[in-house]
Amino acid sequence: MKVLIAGGAGYIGSTIASACSDVGISSVILDNLVTGRREFAARREFYEGDIADGPLVDRIFTEHPDIDVVIHCAALIVVPDSVADPVGYYRANVVKSLEFVTHLLRNRCERFIFSSSASIYGAGADLTVDENSPIDPQSPYARTKAVCEAMFADIAATRPIRVLSLRYFNPIGADPKMRTGLQLPKPTHALGKMMQAQEEGTSFQITGTDYPTRDGTGIRDYIHVWDLAAAHVVALTRFDALLPRASTSTVINIGTGTGTTVRELLDTFNSVVSPPIQARDAARRPGDVAGAYTRMNRARQLLDWQPQYGIADGIRHSLQWASIRDEVLPHTAAHP
Ligand SMILES: NC(=O)c1ccc[n+]([C@@H]2O[C@H](COP(=O)([O-])OP(=O)(O)OC[C@H]3O[C@@H](n4cnc5c(N)ncnc54)[C@H](O)[C@@H]3O)[C@@H](O)[C@H]2O)c1
Repeated sequence: MKVLIAGGAGYIGSTIASACSDVGISSVILDNLVTGRREFAARREFYEGDIADGPLVDRIFTEHPDIDVVIHCAALIVVPDSVADPVGYYRANVVKSLEFVTHLLRNRCERFIFSSSASIYGAGADLTVDENSPIDPQSPYARTKAVCEAMFADIAATRPIRVLSLRYFNPIGADPKMRTGLQLPKPTHALGKMMQAQEEGTSFQITGTDYPTRDGTGIRDYIHVWDLAAAHVVALTRFDALLPRASTSTVINIGTGTGTTVRELLDTFNSVVSPPIQARDAARRPGDVAGAYTRMNRARQLLDWQPQYGIADGIRHSLQWASIRDEVLPHTAAHP
């Protein structure tokens, strides 16, 4: 089997490529390196360029007529940036995705997996969601994901392409073999901030302690990025069983089914590091939400997939990756 991974030089796409190669699925990478790293595409068939570039996509399919499935991870993903530059985000994530799918149709691509996001949900009172929960994205970034999902489903309804949208929860960790991990030196999610506090000897700020959760802090469904990649491998191999007919689309949540609050994440972090970091309570940041976690019946049923790694593994792998990151990904002018 051969798969084209758009955005395959990024954090998640590169991990999917490694998970594929470990089971004998070969991958071709298409990435414009806007946030991805050339080092992550080394040793693979790599096309540097944009998903909206029709002649380039045509060339890829001419040179690889045996591509069976396309995985679309290429997007801009920073929520505050999407608030500051909605035009840029809609252009990058929606307009270019429409161009991309048009190029794929022309090249007779019939199987398409879209990297969607749990951020499109409006969580109910119990903070759990499933695939039928209301869609209520809270940022331009999340709305671009919701728009793309709907757009792809509309296209799949009448054109010869089948679309599987995987709604990811909150990926953490790195490839356990340390081939890839987060490119960013200073990730802004809670775990990234804890790692920064540990490195700099400062205290970690718990931003928001009055959410309607068991301890007042935000809740997330942290999924190890390797488990997320493994879900794609299953989705690839089961694609025709999942979507047996032409002109169909479906969605599956990819999370662990367990909600973890910021205080719980901090406790686990402190059980892994020595000395433990200090924390102090702080006000909510604008735009933050209480969060949500998945009810995971559908992933279990349709993919027969379950996460293998726990939060402590994700933290350990993130720390291990951070300690080698600068060797694997040297600082350059483009990546200071
Ligand atoms: N990281 C998360 O927390 C998270 C959560 C849910 C969903 N997702 C989705 O997963 C996907 C991958 O996210 P990630 O965390 O790996 O981000 P990332 O920034 O590491 O990867 C995105 C990749 O896409 C490439 N890219 C962007 N626009 C492109 C274009 N027009 N043409 C070609 N390549 C382009 C970038 O260079 C990068 O390599 C995204 O679609 C994102 O919306 C991510």
